[in-house]
This record gives sequence, structure tokens and C-alpha cells, in this order.
Amino acid sequence: MPYLYGHNLRIRASERTDIPLFLRWINDPDVVSNLETYAPMGIEEEEAWFTAMKSRPIDEHNLVIEVHPDGQDQEWVAIGNISFFPIDQIARSVEIGIMIGEKDYWNKGYGTEAMRTMYRYGFEVLNLNRIWLRVYDTNPRAKRAYEKAGFVYEGTMRQAFYKHGQYIDAHVMSILKSDWIESRKDVAH
Ligand SMILES: CC(C)(COP(=O)(O)OP(=O)(O)OC[C@H]1O[C@@H](n2cnc3c(N)ncnc32)[C@H](O)[C@@H]1OP(=O)(O)O)[C@@H](O)C(=O)NCCC(=O)NCCS
Repeated sequence: MPYLYGHNLRIRASERTDIPLFLRWINDPDVVSNLETYAPMGIEEEEAWFTAMKSRPIDEHNLVIEVHPDGQDQEWVAIGNISFFPIDQIARSVEIGIMIGEKDYWNKGYGTEAMRTMYRYGFEVLNLNRIWLRVYDTNPRAKRAYEKAGFVYEGTMRQAFYKHGQYIDAHVMSILKSDWIESRKDVAH
């Protein structure tokens, strides 16, 4: 798969050599605070996950978000993951997940930009019609990033998850191919 380029980032396939990086991110309590992940992960669990992930269709593989570190336009540094999974082949609908594991890179617009980059891939290359996600009510940063990226609120799954000793509501958001085409018209004018 060729790299996917956004304005300030690129998205590439994940490699087995990325596993130590993934392991650091997935074991950071701040990073996974609003994710379903709950148990400490070791190298064996991560390698098993990686092998299973790579055995899925290529469109559902975990991808790596890379950006330029400050002031170094020639360098690329991996800051997080993004993936479509699972793809409903009949409805052309897919859930998207994102995790920026490098906390220094939060709140810099990369999450929003990574989503927009995946829209182009999803709608123009994979011919998807709907991209959706679930976001915890306790994750205002993510909700804001998704709204900026054009996701529309669909509804709330009440007490759908349990984290930090409490049940948590999760909001379902989505973007349709028609929404995306419409938003690009706004940009063109
Ligand atoms: C959630 C995540 C993908 C967002 O990516 P990001 O690059 O940090 O987000 P962006 O910079 O694109 O946008 C964040 C927005 O939220 C705002 N924000 C940050 N904290 C906020 C808060 N507590 N309340 C409201 N808005 C907040 C930022 O100001 C920014 O909005 P602005 O551009 O209007 O100022 C990223 O932070 C991440 O991966 N976090 C850890 C894992 C995770 O939670 N994944 C998502 C699971 S659904």
C-alpha cells in the first residue's frame, strides 16, 4: 500500500519492528484511559495481536501515523495508530479507531488530520459509504477532534463500557461519503 499523505502527516503500514513502540503506547495509562484496553500487555500478547491483525484483509490492518518532529522537515516520527476494522462489505461501512500514543503530540491537530486522511482513503480508494466510531463520554478531546473532522453525532450507548470504577456512556458518531463530498464543496469555495 502506498503511504497516505495528509497536510502535516503521513500514514504507513505497520511493521513488526514497531511492536516495542506499540507496547509502550498501549501500556501508558493516560493513552488508554478512554480505550477498551485494560490489562497490562507484554511482548507475547502484542506479538500475538500483531500476527492476528496482519492475517486480516489488508484494508483492516493497523496503520501508523507519522509526522515531522518540530523543525525537522526531513525526518518522520511515529506518533500513533489508526485503523478501519471491521469492514462491512455489503453496507460499505466501517468502524475507525485511533490512538496517538505520543502524548507530546496531542492537541496539535494530528488526530483531526489523520481522520481526514483516512476519509480520502476510505471513500475514494476503498469505496466505503460510512465511517463510524464510538467515543467515551469521558473523552472530550476526542469528541472535539471528531467534530472538527466532520463526524456527526448519531446517538448514545448508555453505560456501554466500564472503566475507572464506573459505567461510561459512549457516543456513536459517523461520516457518510455524501457528507464528505459536501464538506469538500465548502472548501472549494
Ligand atoms: C483523541 C485523539 C485521537 C485526538 O487527537 P489530537 O491530535 O490530540 O486532537 P486534535 O488536536 O486534532 O483536536 C483536539 C481538540 O480537542 C480540544 N480539547 C483538548 N482537551 C479538551 C477538553 N478537555 N475538553 C474539550 N476540548 C478539548 C483541543 O483544544 C482541540 O480542539 P481545538 O483545535 O478546537 O482547540 C488523541 O488525543 C488520542 O489518541 N488520545 C489517546 C487515545 C484516545 O483517546 N483515542 C480515541 C479513542 S475514541
